[in-house]
Amino acid sequence: MVKAKIAVLVSGGGTNLQALIDAEKSGIIVSGEIMLVISNNENAYALTRAKNNNIATAYIPSKAPDFETQLIKILKDNDIDIIILAGFMKILSGDFTKTFENRIINVHPSLIPSFCGKGFYGLKVHEEALKYGVKVTGATVHFVNEIPDGGNIILQKAVYIEEGDTPEILQKRVMEQAEWKILPQAAELLSQKYIKE
Ligand code: GAR
Repeated sequence: MVKAKIAVLVSGGGTNLQALIDAEKSGIIVSGEIMLVISNNENAYALTRAKNNNIATAYIPSKAPDFETQLIKILKDNDIDIIILAGFMKILSGDFTKTFENRIINVHPSLIPSFCGKGFYGLKVHEEALKYGVKVTGATVHFVNEIPDGGNIILQKAVYIEEGDTPEILQKRVMEQAEWKILPQAAELLSQKYIKE
């Protein structure tokens, strides 16, 4: 059996990348292997996490005019089967998502279709959830298509809002209770489809 080859795209701290790395080590992800971590931000701590775990890294500047061409080349050169967006803060074009149809997943820190789409990323999502006054939020892992946060949903997990929550406190609870659990689970589910005998 040849495991599915996974690339993880990151922009920031990389706690979701860490959850994926830990899940591979602990046997939650057995059908896929993280081969490559790519960032559009040279200073992303996620790149350090990858290096600490002997995973190959690449940096493509966000402003590179041929950003997606470079990205496609590196993914193809490495025979990548599955792309996981783990805190990747750049919207990918329809041309890109079609090239890897049903092979790209993203973790979003709310229960889609609430608090999602263009402009809803990172802490902003939790600020809006608290402002609206919802009592339950959570996280979603979904396929990525040409509509931001619009692809088919794979897994969701609910998280309760608590008295005194700030966006930062809520962000941490959503990560701990939902994102770090459902992202590795979804990675394993998708990897099973791309195992080569
Ligand atoms: C996570 O909460 C992730 O769901 C969110 O950014 C954070 C990245 O944290 N992603 C989005 O908002 C994408 N729309 P991390 O770098 O520690 O994984």
